[in-house]
Amino acid sequence: MSGPDKTQGLAGQRLLLCVGGGIAAYKALELVRRLRDGGAEVQVAMTAGAQHFVTPLSFQALSGQPTRTTLWDSAAEQAMGHIELARWADRVIVAPATADLMARLAHGLADDLVTTLCLATTAPIMLAPAMNHRMWQHPATQANLATLRARGVQVVGPNDGPLAEGESGPGRLAEPHEIVAALAGQAAAQVPQDLAGLKVVVSAGPTYEDLDPVRYLGNRSSGKMGFAVAASAARRGARVTLVAGPVQLPTPAGVDRVDVRSAAQMHAAVFAALPADIYIGAAAVADYTPREPAANKIKKSSESLALDLVRTPDILAEVAAQTQALKLVVGFAAETNNVAEYARRKLEAKRLDMIVANRVGIADGGFESDQNAMTAYWKDGERSFASAPKTRLADDLMDLIVERLDA
Ligand code: C5P
Repeated sequence: MSGPDKTQGLAGQRLLLCVGGGIAAYKALELVRRLRDGGAEVQVAMTAGAQHFVTPLSFQALSGQPTRTTLWDSAAEQAMGHIELARWADRVIVAPATADLMARLAHGLADDLVTTLCLATTAPIMLAPAMNHRMWQHPATQANLATLRARGVQVVGPNDGPLAEGESGPGRLAEPHEIVAALAGQAAAQVPQDLAGLKVVVSAGPTYEDLDPVRYLGNRSSGKMGFAVAASAARRGARVTLVAGPVQLPTPAGVDRVDVRSAAQMHAAVFAALPADIYIGAAAVADYTPREPAANKIKKSSESLALDLVRTPDILAEVAAQTQALKLVVGFAAETNNVAEYARRKLEAKRLDMIVANRVGIADGGFESDQNAMTAYWKDGERSFASAPKTRLADDLMDLIVERLDA
């Protein structure tokens, strides 16, 4: 890799970008792209003024989410109410923050969507001001700036240089890469570096067991939970190797990724990544694989076809058997019924330090969903995590892992 990764710390973050009405709004488009490249989820809210400069559709195309433009859109409100959106955000970034928007934020107004979101959120807010240099230097703007700073609002820019009106001075929006770096720095400062110096290996996704050159046995694991867990560990300072089955997910920032296909390949990649301090087996590894994949495509001939399958190695149990080497081994259990009982049985049978169980086959949760609810079990305790986005669950699970490390 060339140089330090300035986007590290953004992976899995939920960022709400509030766009104010200035010519610099066009730069906010580039900002969305960079934030998403860094692995962040971005939702955009625009003021009425902003929509004179850039269209909501442009932001929608780049963020991959509907752009919010008003408090009074009942369809948008039904999908996610503005209070919910304010709570969804890990961080709020206002770019460009115009003189008017800064004044309204300083005075706690809530007369449009953007100001309401900023008032309703408890997430840290970062402002990237952009305006004419005389407006920036005006005592009113400077007083508003001081008020906002005193409340903990972080400010990036404005930069000095030529302005849109042909004048020059402080008032240019900070460049998108500078805003990204400031956000990444803020993220790293917020996250405790309590896994610094530790090596974490995570397995994620399904495995595909080839039957012949065109067919395979697979499962519905999306890999989202394992990827979120790897991202969370990296944010907390761990060196992370993510052994990923076949999934189409971006690699979280700061994570070493090894792509595999079969259970046998996953087994080899996990053991190649050891020694480690923590192993988290979030992959849905096939339990059986064809004894001998057919060299040529299997032809349909008889009415029925029996497959000769053999057990795959239990990667998790084998890693857990290396007790001296690892500080903590965590498994996952996807169950359709008797969740607690089966999970505790696996905890013992595989000699794990912790098992995280979730119900699959239910609406709004499980394999393909972005959302899940789960319970972690260890020898003398358990903790339930209410239904939440997998990125948040991964952070909560990592809190528990750190606790168990210290226990
Ligand atoms: O026994 P079961 O497959 O339900 O256990 C699930 C846990 O075991 C997961 O953490 C999974 O990653 C791990 N596992 C494994 N190797 C296998 C099968 C499951 O590591 N062959």
